Amino acid sequence: MCGIVGYVGKKNAYSILISGLKRLEYRGYDSAGVAMINVQSELNIYKTKGKVDDLVAFCDEKDTTGTIGIAHTRWATHGEPSSKNAHPHVSASGRLALIHNGIIENYITLKEKLIDRGVQFRSVTDSEVLVQLIEYIMQSNELDLLEAVQVALHQVIGAYAIAILDREHPDTIVCARQSSPLVVGLGKDHDYYLASDASPIAEYTDKVVYLNDGDIAVLQYGKTLKMVNKDNETQQPKVKQIDVSLGQLEKGGYPYFMLKEIFEQPECLRDCMRGRINVESNRISLSAVIDYREKLINARRIIIVACGTSWHAGLIGKQLFESLCRIPVEVEYASEFRYRNPVIFPDDVVIAISQSGETADTLAAIELASKSGAFVFGVCNAIGASIPRQTQTGVYIHVGPEIGVASTKAFTGQVTTLSMLALCLAQERKSIPAAMYQEMIKELASIPEKLELALRTNKQIEQLAPIFTYAKNCLYLGRGYNYPVALEGALKLKEISYIHAEGYPAAEMKHGPIALIDSEMPVFVIATRDRLYDKVISNIQEVRARGGRVTALVTEGDEQISKLADYVIELPDTLECFQPLIASIPLQLLAYHIAVCKGKDVDRPRNLAKSVTVE
Ligand code: M6R
Repeated sequence: MCGIVGYVGKKNAYSILISGLKRLEYRGYDSAGVAMINVQSELNIYKTKGKVDDLVAFCDEKDTTGTIGIAHTRWATHGEPSSKNAHPHVSASGRLALIHNGIIENYITLKEKLIDRGVQFRSVTDSEVLVQLIEYIMQSNELDLLEAVQVALHQVIGAYAIAILDREHPDTIVCARQSSPLVVGLGKDHDYYLASDASPIAEYTDKVVYLNDGDIAVLQYGKTLKMVNKDNETQQPKVKQIDVSLGQLEKGGYPYFMLKEIFEQPECLRDCMRGRINVESNRISLSAVIDYREKLINARRIIIVACGTSWHAGLIGKQLFESLCRIPVEVEYASEFRYRNPVIFPDDVVIAISQSGETADTLAAIELASKSGAFVFGVCNAIGASIPRQTQTGVYIHVGPEIGVASTKAFTGQVTTLSMLALCLAQERKSIPAAMYQEMIKELASIPEKLELALRTNKQIEQLAPIFTYAKNCLYLGRGYNYPVALEGALKLKEISYIHAEGYPAAEMKHGPIALIDSEMPVFVIATRDRLYDKVISNIQEVRARGGRVTALVTEGDEQISKLADYVIELPDTLECFQPLIASIPLQLLAYHIAVCKGKDVDRPRNLAKSVTVE
């Protein structure tokens, strides 16, 4: 995690760095810092515990001049959040400043060696070892910064995206990447931007270079971008055009990004399906399926790897692929899969799902699957991220940048994409009747309008939310396609309101969790009209019989459940397999309004970061 930003050119660096940090704050907000070199070649470093706004207040009336600088927002791994442990870290002589995103696994060994040689450390982070090592190598071998970085990186084990300033070369930033993301933006006058993702760069240039693992870039103002590796072999920069509008990166009048992203979902799902679903010709076309048809339709098995919300989307994907395509599916936590020595066959298709495309465990699972010879397919949101670059093919969900730490539109985008993929494969495998395929395409295409109706529950949910703020524990129940929705609803509540919540398959409740039920325990049941409707009613009865308070999500017009539940939220009807898309909306809104009632910072929940680039 952690967000890093850099700039070198002729503009004031500080303002670019601060606005960049604000865009990257979703990656961590334990501490923040900046380093700039002014015209007198002084290296000014300011850092503080807390958020970017705290840094801005701290920098007030300080010298923030200079046209070169680097900045960092931290999600603490090694060392408590404090200004001492905040980045940039400065070298012993005060000549170099460095920012780092990642983890240096062998930092203790390196640190001990440096301490033996007289180097003094100021922080307890793993990151500081990098700047001290680089300076030590520079001084003892009389090397320039790039040469010292190359030597140092040969000794370093771990993940890093780093950027370094050298007070004696106030026109140059040296940066490098290994397993942590780094993007360089190319300005018009050979000025350069640098960031963990393209969002801080998009307002200045649409030309970017995504660094690959092992790349080291030298950003020298006025000079062409130089890229090499640790062995000084030249690497060819691949310039990409990005297409991110500023509106997508702003709150657009909403108090929080999360609420904006919840309300964006109808439009996002239209974008996700645009050019892919054609209702008139009754077809879904995904270029990845066209290009790799044989591999995909002949899959012996699908293994889905993902984390968190993306894993929940994977559970829905499993039901879609199994019922529509009749392909067996396993859904794995990437973090478990990667260390489990799993059986992977060459004719398995491994689908990696990730919003950010940078989740360290998912990337490691992809690497393992690729090495085992499986065909690896990515379902990702962030354009140009590591996962789409490290999979053989895949589909972007195209829901636009998701900034809120609690994932909302990415989840529905993932489920929509998996629905299209399953339908596409089902059509190719002829595993469902043509009439069913047509009905499903039509229904999927109509989901955005139904989401607009589901969003009308916002007022009702806002009014209900205060009732639940007292709760210490909540239970979410669902069955079939709605079981992962229950898991996702519980995760949303936990993440942003800090209320303990559990998602459970409704019928499993009687095998344990039923013991928890009393009048203090809110129970949210997804009870839309489907094959298991009557069974879910029985589960509601079981909760009621123990004094539990039930809030039920029901299909509009439902009269039966309104007699049983304390509160009902009515949702538009749809096919059972698409119900998760609709039922997720009120649960996202519920988590949001409960967190707001409790006065929580919805977009920056404690201890979390949006992009989990450490394992
Ligand atoms: O970027 P990814 O989809 O790979 O991220 C996976 C999880 O870290 C993520 O879904 C996390 O669980 C969200 N904060 C949930 O809201």
